[in-house]
Amino acid sequence: MEEAVKKETKNSGAKDAAVKEVKETKSNKEEEVAQSIKIFRKNIEAARTSPADKVEAQKKKGKFTARERLQYLLDENSFFEIRTLAKSRCTDFGIKDKDLKGDGVITGFGRINGREVAIFAQDFTQLGGSLGLAHAQKIAYIMDLALEAKIPVIGLLDSGGARIQEGVDSLDGYGEIFYRNVKASGVIPQISVILGPCAGGAVYSPALTDYIFMVDGISHMFVTGPGVVKSATGEDVDFDTLGGSKAHSQKSGVCHMVANSEQDCFRQLRDLLTFLPQNCFEKPLSTSTIDSPDRKTPFLEKVAGMNPKMPFRIQHVIWELADENKFFEIHRDFAKNVVVGFIRMGGEVVGVVANNSDHLGGALDLHASDKAARFVRFLNAFNIPILTLVDIGGYLPGVEQEHGGIIRHGAKLLYAYSEASVPKITLVLRKAYGGAYIAMSSKYLRGDFNFALPSAEIAVMGPRGAIEILYSKDIKAAPKDKVEEIKERLTKEYAEKFASPYQTASTGSIDEVIEPSNARQRIIRALRILKNKRDPKNNPQKGNIPL
Ligand code: HXC
Repeated sequence: MEEAVKKETKNSGAKDAAVKEVKETKSNKEEEVAQSIKIFRKNIEAARTSPADKVEAQKKKGKFTARERLQYLLDENSFFEIRTLAKSRCTDFGIKDKDLKGDGVITGFGRINGREVAIFAQDFTQLGGSLGLAHAQKIAYIMDLALEAKIPVIGLLDSGGARIQEGVDSLDGYGEIFYRNVKASGVIPQISVILGPCAGGAVYSPALTDYIFMVDGISHMFVTGPGVVKSATGEDVDFDTLGGSKAHSQKSGVCHMVANSEQDCFRQLRDLLTFLPQNCFEKPLSTSTIDSPDRKTPFLEKVAGMNPKMPFRIQHVIWELADENKFFEIHRDFAKNVVVGFIRMGGEVVGVVANNSDHLGGALDLHASDKAARFVRFLNAFNIPILTLVDIGGYLPGVEQEHGGIIRHGAKLLYAYSEASVPKITLVLRKAYGGAYIAMSSKYLRGDFNFALPSAEIAVMGPRGAIEILYSKDIKAAPKDKVEEIKERLTKEYAEKFASPYQTASTGSIDEVIEPSNARQRIIRALRILKNKRDPKNNPQKGNIPL
């Protein structure tokens, strides 16, 4: 019995010791885990913190940091970062000792107006946001995921370009990105926001995307900077004149949207996304509106009564037609003779392409053809119906235009409209002459509903030009003091016969001559009829090549 008690006591002692050991091991383990979590948090925190002097330098240039940008652009607390701890494997030129946070770029996913987007933000505080291989791979990875997940990609660019220390590896990194830009083109919306320098070949990634935003005073894009320009051509030019927002939004047409501050830019970008679907297999979201589809459009009565040569801003017609008079104009300062952008009609997103007589009489020239053609291709890629407002006397004449390739550029518009299989509604307002009449979504380029106002003049050319050719011998033979009177009579006769919508309405080139004040109602009805014209799942266009 005593033996048994002794054994029992010994056993329970061993058990206690074992329990104690387990407890100790457990608390050591817990401490280890707690410690490793602490280290992890510290590392992440460090990877997310830029040196104060670099942040200050960024602020001095009037710029936000990359993290602030993500915070301001994305829905609150929606940023989901990946590859925070990525590092360059380069050992040359002291790159290893530089401890570049995230290799100079922050990548991940976020939500804008509740919808997922993939996003990267180059961090200028890390070696000028220069692009090395790890940096490029981070961007490439979110682009791959975005393409698989079928969500838009947004790039916030602020970079000195290829990281010189990494040599050709950085150039290859750009190659990886360009390739993905092309693969994603026309499949998911791609948007580039230039928020600092974007130099050298780096400019070609944004150029391959659908829309480029710039901010006045801080954004610059150029293939070669002022220094190289000076040594190559002798021209003296500063950064802003060479590649600032004005140069690219007004002259080159590289930039679509200009903002006067980063906040303004993010607001515009959030707005733009409301008009776009997440990918080419979806339609844009419809919204509810208080604006009645039957609302009358009296301004179009005025337009119908105007002298066809009197210039006016076409935006007035667009505002009149649009739900709540809202028009999101794209490329506003470039090739103003054609106006493009997004509106909603009856709650559905519509892309508008319109001749603007207020600039170059609305004639189509090199830039206007490119601008309109690329926009039409974007709309077709992303299942957005096209409303074309026609008020055009023709292609812009002149040696500069001919030698600049108006034949080549003008053909792009014919191609884009013919190829587009989304709903196409055309309204001729005052005039549509010659080749330009055909180009602007005419019936035989397969416009679905081609409408005209009763005052519209549709003919091979303007009445005055036409009679000067048709009756040149009679005009030459007429007494000098009678020439003007004869010309006026012939012009009137010609205009009555041809320069009206009735001949084209009789042949079916115009489907219906409509009451100007019913234009909104007619267009919305047409859109509703055509709602299922194309199944987005069978979208034939994959690609939005820069034109
Ligand atoms: C490595 C770079 C860099 C680059 C800037 N930095 N650009 N490091 N490679 N490409 C570093 C600077 O050394 C500096 O490092 C920090 O970033 C900030 O740059 P600063 O010059 O102090 O800033 P700032 O005065 O604002 O001038 C910005 C700048 C200028 C205008 C972008 O840095 C510049 O001109 N950089 C070179 C731009 C360029 O030529 N890029 C083209 C590269 S070739 P510290 O350590 O002092 O912070 C290319 C080809 C791509 O891109 C082809 C793709 C197909």
